[in-house]
Amino acid sequence: MANLIIVGAQWGDEGKGKIVDLLTAHFDIVARYQGGHNAGHTVIIDGRKYVLHLIPSGILHAQKQCAIGNGVVIDPIALKQEIDGLAAAGISCKGRLFVSNRAHLILEYHRLVEKGDEERRGKARIGTTSRGIGPAYEDKMGRRGLRVCDLSDPDKLRRHLRENIDVKQVGVAVDPDRLFESAHALGTELSVYFADVAEFLNGNIDEGKTVLFEGAQGTLLDVDHGTYPFVTASSATAGGACTGSGVGPTRIDGVVGIAKAYTTRVGEGPFPTELLDELGERIRRNGQEFGASTGRPRRCGWFDAVVVSYSRMINNLSSLVITKMDVLDDMEEIRVCTGYRYKGSLLRSFPPEIEVLAQCRPEYVTVKGWQQKTAGTKSFDELPVAARDYINRLSDLVKTEISVVSTGPDRSETIITPGSRLAAWVPLGG
Ligand code: GDP
Ligand code: IMO
Ligand code: MG
Repeated sequence: MANLIIVGAQWGDEGKGKIVDLLTAHFDIVARYQGGHNAGHTVIIDGRKYVLHLIPSGILHAQKQCAIGNGVVIDPIALKQEIDGLAAAGISCKGRLFVSNRAHLILEYHRLVEKGDEERRGKARIGTTSRGIGPAYEDKMGRRGLRVCDLSDPDKLRRHLRENIDVKQVGVAVDPDRLFESAHALGTELSVYFADVAEFLNGNIDEGKTVLFEGAQGTLLDVDHGTYPFVTASSATAGGACTGSGVGPTRIDGVVGIAKAYTTRVGEGPFPTELLDELGERIRRNGQEFGASTGRPRRCGWFDAVVVSYSRMINNLSSLVITKMDVLDDMEEIRVCTGYRYKGSLLRSFPPEIEVLAQCRPEYVTVKGWQQKTAGTKSFDELPVAARDYINRLSDLVKTEISVVSTGPDRSETIITPGSRLAAWVPLGG
């Protein structure tokens, strides 16, 4: 019986959706705590593919409850689309999806503001997902945001929409009356899902129920700890689970980091181990590295133990999951970054300045590839020796146990390593 946080240990898209789905069977509730529909979490069950954006991946388990915490920014149009899409696939959210009435809203003008911001930045653009995420969090921090609870107060909603449209000078493009009508109508329709999520989660934990916190994005995209300003606008690290859900830190038992056996990044920003050559193309091809939300090609590179060690520290990872092992199956050699050299010296910690990070030269160790099929392998002992060595080496470099190795996108294509801390909390077998 444990409450656990799942967190991305790189730049997002590590395979959190697959691992949340794998673990959901052992929890009562799955909760999102930050980000919004910029996330794209893929789950494949018996060959059928689902991509979740705003709703926790746990919704695919019919008996489980799901919560969207106050730290998430919610576009009501996207929420309705996702609920309707799930219903069309035979998955009902009724009575088991709880959306925080304290969560902030993403509205039409946030997307417009983001478009303008990105255009103004030109070459220095962030490469956002264009979902309005950043501007919605700006309004939250600027204390002019509208929240889910405001949808049921027509006078306040109308007044605030008008004020915000004035402040942002988007009055030509956005008609306040039309926006009010659509937001109010959506709010009324979706109101069956609105709840006090902090009360819901804490009340359930009081009764002995367990919560799996599903992080979105990844540690290096966290607004405080990531490669600022090339980050998202929320707290994508483990700390965000508390502020973003209203569940205190002492109620949470552990943090499980998810990392790929290599590294990817979507959007702009420094990426020390990026491969701009044929090898990078090969990883993209083998791993089908195209964004689950935007379809953009992901930038690919070697595993960076500096990045994942930094994630281990920031999140105090209890355990690490390595995904997409199979993608490296045909590599003759594999490299792992063990340190950064900057102006001739080895750095002792992850640099805060992106200008420094952009000039860091990765120090690599090179290991022999296994050049055998690991795709679909279900036990550690069945892995080729070189693949086992690779996993053990990553574990040593990052100083964290590796409790799960994923060898394919399907739920069943998974290795549980025996005797891990994770296995002590969650009876996974193995
Ligand atoms: P998330 O955002 O962290 O949930 O990850 P995404 O869903 O955006 O991207 C991960 C992609 O890798 C998805 O297409 C998954 O189906 C796929 N995937 C997950 N684990 C594995 C694995 O072990 N092997 C392979 N080949 N694909 C995987
Ligand atoms: P999941 O949960 C990968 C990236 C964007 C951009 C930056 C800021 O699927 O891992 P935003 O629209 O959030 O303001 O964009 O963050 N980004 C992600 N990259 N996976 C994600 O989510 C991401 N969500 C945002 O590409 O670089
Ligand atoms: Mg994703």
